[in-house]
Amino acid sequence: MSNSAPIGVFDSGFGGLTILKKIVERMPGYDYVFLGDNARAPYGSRSFATVYNYTLQAVKKLFQLGCPLVVLACNTASAKALRTIQQEYLAKDCPQNRVLGIIRPTAEALGGITRTNKVGILGTAGTVNSQSYILETAKLFPEIKIFQQACPMLVPIVENNEIDTPGADFFVEKYLNLLFAQDPEIDTIVLGCTHYPLLINSFKKFLPPSVHIVKQNEIVAHSLQEYLLRHPDMDARLSKNSSINYYTTDDSSLFDHSASVFMGAPVASTSIALN
Ligand code: DGL
Repeated sequence: MSNSAPIGVFDSGFGGLTILKKIVERMPGYDYVFLGDNARAPYGSRSFATVYNYTLQAVKKLFQLGCPLVVLACNTASAKALRTIQQEYLAKDCPQNRVLGIIRPTAEALGGITRTNKVGILGTAGTVNSQSYILETAKLFPEIKIFQQACPMLVPIVENNEIDTPGADFFVEKYLNLLFAQDPEIDTIVLGCTHYPLLINSFKKFLPPSVHIVKQNEIVAHSLQEYLLRHPDMDARLSKNSSINYYTTDDSSLFDHSASVFMGAPVASTSIALN
């Protein structure tokens, strides 16, 4: 990989592939490395310190693999680790590299979408408790009120491939009911966990068609493209041979099977350790 300078995309598990897929569709010429910490997923209910340590290890690994730019394609890691990584690790040890999150670009899109100024965020307990969506949205659109609902059962459902099952429907309906009980005028919801788009069929079953579902993967892909246009110095450092390499901290054949379904193309990953 010596001449390669890919864009690194990180998630605790498979969910970040929903982001990677849209980024690759939008910018197919670049090289990408996806890293899933499947062996330690889910991150959603872990402490701040644990999510920070795991995410920092993943970022360091992606830098070692030659990535000058890393996208945390995970709301939980973006909420709990991004700021400290940027302010402490990058500033001191790797000032030439960049790590981007996915909450800020998602919050930036909300102003143009909601009409009632009432937005629902569904996410992991970690993302919800961090209040990151509330804080980021308040800076940009103080008129928007954010309602949140943690959905702790949804990541295990996705990671265990129980998508499109009565169990998935049960929990999606339950969490939506809890969200809309907070305010029935919510007109926009953010699937604020990169795993949740895989449950889109269940969400559509229980949401009125008037409610807008924010497509975080499209927003992040667009915002990354804009970022590279604004930072031609970083763009020039990135290699462009249309390759994707996959790494997982768990068994690679297990990863390949599920990842191929997510990507709609065969995936052959390499298993690595993070520490
Ligand atoms: N996919 C991650 C997110 O966007 C979290 C999944 C997990 O709990 O590890 O929040």
